[in-house]
Amino acid sequence: MVLENKVAIITGGASGLGEATAIRYAGSGASVIVADTNTSGGEKTVELIREKGGTAEFVHTDVTSENDVINMINVAKGKFAKLDALVTCAGILLSPNTRVDQFEATDWDKVIDVNLKGTFLCVKHAVSLMGQHDSGVILMIASGAGVLGGSSSVAYAASKGGVYGFGLTLAGQLKPLNIRVHVILPGNMATTLKLNVIGEIAEKAGGSRQEAIKAQLPSLLKPEVTAELLTNLVSDIGTSAQDTLLIQSAAWTKIFEDQKRSS
Ligand SMILES: NC(=O)c1ccc[n+]([C@@H]2O[C@H](COP(=O)([O-])OP(=O)(O)OC[C@H]3O[C@@H](n4cnc5c(N)ncnc54)[C@H](O)[C@@H]3O)[C@@H](O)[C@H]2O)c1
Repeated sequence: MVLENKVAIITGGASGLGEATAIRYAGSGASVIVADTNTSGGEKTVELIREKGGTAEFVHTDVTSENDVINMINVAKGKFAKLDALVTCAGILLSPNTRVDQFEATDWDKVIDVNLKGTFLCVKHAVSLMGQHDSGVILMIASGAGVLGGSSSVAYAASKGGVYGFGLTLAGQLKPLNIRVHVILPGNMATTLKLNVIGEIAEKAGGSRQEAIKAQLPSLLKPEVTAELLTNLVSDIGTSAQDTLLIQSAAWTKIFEDQKRSS
């Protein structure tokens, strides 16, 4: 199995991309820490993993709390003694389609706190554990919203652009520790976050939430497709991925397929 003997922490593991990634990692042989504020969702992810014979622990973690993040790392250290991969999926999007002069500062703070500060805190404390064995992979989930433009939310765009800038600095800083850093821009996925945004935008425009979701659903990726890319990046074939910014695309899928065939 491609992630045999690896230990991974996945934030946001109760739902969407984090859930799909946790299940995929455990199914590929990794021991997984599922970290989320959503206890019932996180415990469900762990249950699904254990039913299939995988190894997982849920740790209630609010990524905006440094104490919670320290506890999450301590659980990984206590249970599995090391950390090979951190995947930061925890994220929120508030106030879509709200012009900046109407955007509430409280919503701005919430989004920046979870998406940007939360990513910083998880990376900060993960590096101290990865540094003890001089290896690791950090996959930071950003969004095209923050790098390519076109977001429905100014705070979401700013937070994800911030994650990208953070990642560019980290990649060089952590190279001497043999820690590889990638900022991932996933394609649009059918998750709670995305479907809620589609529904909210439709309602704001006086339309139907259900109709809008139904119309857009066929164009959205399943989170499992992105989870496969995140699995390849942590597996041995991922070592050839040297770019910091990875945009989910057919090209990346092809690179990994070619490598699998030749290995
Ligand atoms: N869905 C998309 O189209 C899309 C596209 C690009 C990027 N992303 C990013 O992918 C990541 C995963 O999102 P998703 O689409 O799976 O959404 P989701 O809503 O299904 O999952 C997000 C998870 O983050 C958790 N979370 C929220 N605040 C938290 C906190 N303070 N501490 C810990 N956990 C917290 C939620 O409980 C939830 O389980 C996010 O960072 C999102 O911005 C999503």
